[in-house]
Amino acid sequence: MAKISASLYTSHVPAIGAAIDLGKTTEPYWQPLFKGYEYSKQWMQDNKPDVILLVYNDHATAFSLEMIPTFAIGCAAEFKPADEGWGPRPVPTVKGHPALASHIAQSVIQQDFDLTIVNKMDVDHGLTVPLSLMCGQPQEWPCLVIPFAVNVVQYPVPSGRRCYNLGRAIRNAIESYDEPLNVHIWGTGGMSHQLQGPRAGLINREFDNAFLDRIIADPQGQADVPHIDYVREAGSEGIELVMWLIARGAMSDNAPNVKHRFYHVPASNTAVGHLILENN
Ligand code: DHB
Ligand code: FE
Repeated sequence: MAKISASLYTSHVPAIGAAIDLGKTTEPYWQPLFKGYEYSKQWMQDNKPDVILLVYNDHATAFSLEMIPTFAIGCAAEFKPADEGWGPRPVPTVKGHPALASHIAQSVIQQDFDLTIVNKMDVDHGLTVPLSLMCGQPQEWPCLVIPFAVNVVQYPVPSGRRCYNLGRAIRNAIESYDEPLNVHIWGTGGMSHQLQGPRAGLINREFDNAFLDRIIADPQGQADVPHIDYVREAGSEGIELVMWLIARGAMSDNAPNVKHRFYHVPASNTAVGHLILENN
């Protein structure tokens, strides 16, 4: 049977991808940020999964605002890096796992969560920046990746509770897959940030750190926090944090082993948060 051995959480700021692609990671502005991911890159090498289920949001790149699935699973064999306006990032094409993705779709839909099946999609910074942070600049990504896109861009967005319960359904799905695969589930986005309007540049360290505490120790309680609290406290784009609850919901009910925790301000106009949790 397949099993989820770990979950990983990280912001996915596009400027981080640009800093990697342009060779700026050792510049004084960026050095403290990338230092926080040194442990993680080593951990990734030492704990390479077969497949990553990578929860992220598309930023009106693949889906535009004409059609917006709440939850969408990538079932294709490959996904190309998207052109977000300045050409695709110079990173490898993402190789998927169509059989596992289709199994997850089957199982999760039969557990009453509606997923959109995506057979062709380019993937934007929401997916590629976390891969770059964890894997550096390889010729090929070190494992297969199933993109799992969540709408946190166009209202209405899913609640934290629904995301957490979806994670549980994903856990059931993966654990009922008939091959001994080692799977990681990643939750991306956040932390506090607002990219537009009078509150542009908003950062809330207290909220972010309380969120990190709670996603580790009390995810059930965090799942009850209404979406409006994220927007009020963490800014309009802080709502991306609900995606972390999908990854957390997919973990076992035992307290996780906290392998790494990192928080840094600023990256671009965003707070960056990062966690690695292993299943006990
Ligand atoms: C920015 C964009 C994002 O999607 C995000 O999650 C954080 C920051 C940005 O444009 O700076
Ligand atoms: Fe984002």
